[in-house]
Amino acid sequence: MNIAILGAMWGDEGKGHITHHLSKDYDWVIRFNGGANAGHTIYRDGKKYVHNLLPSVDWRNQNTKAYLGAGMVIDLEKLRDEVYTLEKDFPGASKRIYVDKSAFVVLPEHKEEDKKENAHIGSTNRGIGPAYRAKISRRGIRVGDCVNSDLFGYLIQMGNCGVRFVDLLNVRDEMTRGKLLYEGAQGVLLDINHGIYPFVSCSDCTIGGIYSGGFHFAPPKRIYGVAKCYTTKVGEGPFPTEIHGEEGNDLRKRGNEYGATTGRPRRVGWLDLPALNYACKVSGITDLILTKFDILAGMENVPVCNKYEKVPTSPSDFMSAEPEYVKLPGWAKAEKGNKELTDFIRTVQKATGCYVNYISTGTESKDILPWYG
Ligand code: IMP
Ligand code: MG
Repeated sequence: MNIAILGAMWGDEGKGHITHHLSKDYDWVIRFNGGANAGHTIYRDGKKYVHNLLPSVDWRNQNTKAYLGAGMVIDLEKLRDEVYTLEKDFPGASKRIYVDKSAFVVLPEHKEEDKKENAHIGSTNRGIGPAYRAKISRRGIRVGDCVNSDLFGYLIQMGNCGVRFVDLLNVRDEMTRGKLLYEGAQGVLLDINHGIYPFVSCSDCTIGGIYSGGFHFAPPKRIYGVAKCYTTKVGEGPFPTEIHGEEGNDLRKRGNEYGATTGRPRRVGWLDLPALNYACKVSGITDLILTKFDILAGMENVPVCNKYEKVPTSPSDFMSAEPEYVKLPGWAKAEKGNKELTDFIRTVQKATGCYVNYISTGTESKDILPWYG
């Protein structure tokens, strides 16, 4: 069964960690949106890996291939660097990387434009918005058009490592025979259509991005939304459940909430059920995966926002949201069978109408637990 792993909130929910763990059962892991603004962190045997552009494949499994789809905007220099690093850790793995020639490239001037124009929303300055703007204004450059440009050298270097630059039509039959995992980047609340505009990224972070990337021939059957058991956000814009002051600093430290891409301290807050419910409804999410339960373990009570004064039905409703909280009993340890943890998860299921299928209680694969009930 093909599945998608989407960020249900503002990114950094743990999609990379979950994708990496599940990837062994899939033939392809496909990135379909965004670019090097993403920072997907994976721990493998105690060692930390961060990918910005490469899908979060567990490269130890020889059967899983990676695809960078047409909806992405790709910084070729950065991708070359990631490929070189990958080759050091997993020699030969690059032969399993496929890049869609229809994806657009990020140019150096796009990163400069980001710095000048997008500081007020807290852009990652990876050139994402300006690259999508060039694409929409029909001035963009596709990966396949780089042959006569300065960027061609990067394609040659990656090609020498075994990376393939392809048309989706030529791999479509092979994909149809396999099992696909679509790995989203960013999150629903940063989506260009359904996120809290203008404090958004510029790509389709919902199931829409999978279709517009051309993958309608093998759509996901289940769409897993990933969220933390609390909330974080990088960049400017409304954050109804934000925690300020010492309490916020303390949670940031405990959760190690610093941006994987930019190193910026993340803003932190409590779990926001109205926002999560909104995200599930607008993005096609069918199931949930909740992460970082180890971080809140040991608290006597865990505050959760269970309603806003007005139920959010559009992105602009978040601008004036007035959150209300309940205090749920905390769990001593994040493990199966814990009553308080089970009750917390039931509260999330009830608020969203989505079952929780996995929870994460730590950074390694072994800490991802299937959840029933
Ligand atoms: P941009 O995508 O770099 O243009 O940034 C737009 C907004 O999205 C900023 O608030 C960023 O902090 C945020 N953002 C972009 N990518 C990510 C991500 O992968 N995780 C978290 N926030 C992100
Ligand atoms: Mg991230």
